[in-house]
Amino acid sequence: MTITSTPNNDVRYTWAVALYQQMRENFWIPQRLDITQDVTDYGNLTDDERYAYDGILSYLTFLDSVQTCNIPHLKTSITAPEISLCMAEQISQEGMHNQSYQYLIETIIPPERRTQVYEFWRTDKLLRDRCEFIAKLYQKYIDDATTENYFIALMADFLLEGLYFYNGFIYFYNLASRMLMPGSADIFKMINRDELSHVRLYQKLIPEARKVFPHSVEQIYEMFDMAVNYECRWTNHIVGNNILGITESSTEKYTKYLANIRLRSIGLEPLYPEPKYSKSPYTHLERFSDTKKAAHTKANFFEATVTSYVMSSGLTGWDEI
Ligand SMILES: [Fe+2]
Ligand SMILES: [Fe+2]
Repeated sequence: MTITSTPNNDVRYTWAVALYQQMRENFWIPQRLDITQDVTDYGNLTDDERYAYDGILSYLTFLDSVQTCNIPHLKTSITAPEISLCMAEQISQEGMHNQSYQYLIETIIPPERRTQVYEFWRTDKLLRDRCEFIAKLYQKYIDDATTENYFIALMADFLLEGLYFYNGFIYFYNLASRMLMPGSADIFKMINRDELSHVRLYQKLIPEARKVFPHSVEQIYEMFDMAVNYECRWTNHIVGNNILGITESSTEKYTKYLANIRLRSIGLEPLYPEPKYSKSPYTHLERFSDTKKAAHTKANFFEATVTSYVMSSGLTGWDEI
């Protein structure tokens, strides 16, 4: 019982009330997004593009599965009802994200390749090692529920939500920018928006947790550095220099840039202070992740469906990440 709130209406964490409302307003249903164009496009991708498409889907499926299993463990130590609600909503969203991957796989990927995609995280050694590394940080807390291990699990969660998805998202936005797989990009921008709400949750929780849980700043930097290395190694393995618009160098820049902004968001200095890591190499793709500015997404005729999910929230107190 660590993060608590008074049981009456005197809510301690007002940011969590606003965040929960925002998460609920982000509601969407994957199957309502039309991905039929992607079935044709998939057949016209290069072998490298198809390999990366399948591999990234498999990896993201793993990430959301691990979240669905582990957030309930983290949630048991939270007694503030407003934060608990955010986590309950997060668990529901992670489960729905898995459904959306299944929808993509079952609709777009031919039957003879599907098992390979579902099993890729087990059959590809580099991916399996990575998945084991991610799961182990959570497992540590499940096996030995110390306060220190709880903090590590919280950090592991923040890294997963804040760092591990984004080279994957960029891959789909990159394809969409070349008029390929527009339905997949539509789905990923909705997932992207949900993941950013999860990032907001943990970037608020971690500074609170830092006040009460044993840890060291060095330990946080070490976890970040390791996460960046794993992320770059995996992205170079599955995307590398083989996809138009992405290189090993842009992957490194983007991953370190993300790590820096995530560190800043929890009140720490950037780990990679060189100027080249202070800006995203993919700003030209950001419009594809933007679910709110309709003017930016006219190129995609599916967008009308997507924007219909966006409701004006009028929420205050949230800075854009
Ligand atoms: Fe998710
Ligand atoms: Fe998430």
